[in-house]
Amino acid sequence: TPDITSICKDASAGIKNIKDAIRTRKCCPPSLGKTIKDYVIPAETTLKKRWPAHKGTPKQIDDYIRAIQAMKDLPQDDPRSFLNQAKIHCAYCNGSYNQDGTDISLQIHNSWLFFPFHRWYVYFYERILGKLINVPDFALPFWKWDEPDGMPIPEIFLPKDVNGKVNPLYDEFRDANSVKDRIVDLDFGGKDKDRPAKQQIYCNLNTVYRDLVRNGGDTLSFFGGEYVAGVIPPDKTPSAGSVEAGSHTAVHRWVGDDKQPNDEDMGNFYSAGYDPIFYVHHANVDRMWKLWKDLRLPGHVEPTDRDWLDASYVFYDENQELVRVYNRDCVDINKLSYKYIENSKEVFPWRKSRP
Ligand code: C2O
Repeated sequence: TPDITSICKDASAGIKNIKDAIRTRKCCPPSLGKTIKDYVIPAETTLKKRWPAHKGTPKQIDDYIRAIQAMKDLPQDDPRSFLNQAKIHCAYCNGSYNQDGTDISLQIHNSWLFFPFHRWYVYFYERILGKLINVPDFALPFWKWDEPDGMPIPEIFLPKDVNGKVNPLYDEFRDANSVKDRIVDLDFGGKDKDRPAKQQIYCNLNTVYRDLVRNGGDTLSFFGGEYVAGVIPPDKTPSAGSVEAGSHTAVHRWVGDDKQPNDEDMGNFYSAGYDPIFYVHHANVDRMWKLWKDLRLPGHVEPTDRDWLDASYVFYDENQELVRVYNRDCVDINKLSYKYIENSKEVFPWRKSRP
């Protein structure tokens, strides 16, 4: 990633209906005149415990809603504002940046950059939210779509108003709004299958097993293909890893509104970050990396190539500092001071769901 505040152009790649685009294509971050520093991971005393979005305590839910509201209330030109956080995804995915030192456009999807980039993105997003409401152990929810009770879109995202106020978790450009209690389709390809709930649950568990075990048996099939500086797709187009191509993309498409010109919000890279559910979906995608690792099957190891370890991204942190972060520093989430709350016995329903 180059210096994102000086080398950046309007987004256009991957937006099929540019003329009617609902969200802006001006996705460059504000420039505060800061120079990029290598990020030093703070030595934390508090562990952030990410919680399943369908099972939040009143305090967890209240903090989360207040934090999102606070983010929406920031001046728009603050790099931590809701708008600027959404634009990060657009800029990194729809052609705003070039690979550092080249004129080749940078794309962090469909390759082995997918997991680490989104891990860092959600990491800073969570820290910003915690800082805004002054809760040092603030942790995001995750949309636990790998467990039957967690498969519908979490209820906290659905009501348009709560107590006469607009729900900051609500997004009007979302096809899933009308589907309280409906089970997500983790293999959604654009058409509703109208399966009975029980059958859809069973299919979803098969899909999780497919993404984590059957199709993700070695480093590159799980992470995605090698993507190194200077290589121009499509000469050597890398491939998406099993989770990225599978359940991850299916959820984007299922939530996005296909009646909008570009399937906004969740159905297109440039607009996905405008839906608060995006970060909660990606927390679970990030958790998939952890679960895959914890299976400890042969082949379940992160890439060790220098090209992967040294790849880096630039973000604004919660203090509006411009920082560069590396893949190698995000491999161990203990070092990043967060964890995922799991069921006490860590029994995963999909483990017995070999398709
Ligand atoms: Cu950057 Cu879920 O995509």
